[in-house]
Amino acid sequence: MAVQINPSILSADFSRLADEAKAVEGADWLHVDVMDNHFVPNLTLGVPVVEALGKATDTPMDCHLMIEDPDRWAPAYVEAGAGSVTFHVEAAAAPVRLAREIRAKGARAAMALKPATPIEPYEDLLPELDMLLVMTVEPGFGGQAFLDIMLPKIRRTRELISRHGLEMWLQVDGGVSASTIERCAEAGADVFVAGSAVYGAEDPDKAVRELRALAENAAGTTGLCGHQAAGR
Ligand code: DX5
Ligand code: ZN
Repeated sequence: MAVQINPSILSADFSRLADEAKAVEGADWLHVDVMDNHFVPNLTLGVPVVEALGKATDTPMDCHLMIEDPDRWAPAYVEAGAGSVTFHVEAAAAPVRLAREIRAKGARAAMALKPATPIEPYEDLLPELDMLLVMTVEPGFGGQAFLDIMLPKIRRTRELISRHGLEMWLQVDGGVSASTIERCAEAGADVFVAGSAVYGAEDPDKAVRELRALAENAAGTTGLCGHQAAGR
């Protein structure tokens, strides 16, 4: 389970997106938050900006769609150059069909859960997905406080992934910083989105390196899965 750090450009300077993308060369993916002011009470960017950003950077894009009707819109983000597309299960009409379509178009398919959405009803869908995103804030805004109450869900999700023998990644997003990333790694997350903790830092690339070191240490001290070390 390799640690990956995905800076969220939501906290970057939108007037200099290409430069901001280059400021985090050590990042694994650029996390691009798409919001439609319906699924969440905020509006950000859409397909044309993703397409332009993709041409401006070599770092692959991880598009997090916080939008209604992802069944209709998600495939366009693959065509725009996203290497991974995440839809919210609360918004998808047909998550299996959608995940298959994303994969068929050549991107990794991921599904996100808001804080109040449990993982258990979706256990049978896991083989259709390349990544599961457990939100650790209510989606919509950067800079919110990490929700500790999500740690048990991260643990349970990692257990389900292990039980099914799947290779899939487990991403956390929201309030991930130097003071919370270790708890997430210990619980079993391996892909970490960080917005304000990266772009709010004086040296964003250094912040990426520091977050990675903390997560690798935390994952290392507890073995592959934190829940095993916790004796569960
Ligand atoms: C929130 C977005 C996050 C956000 C994270 O709805 O999905 O990706 O940018 O920002 P921080 O890391 O500041 O909580
Ligand atoms: Zn996000």
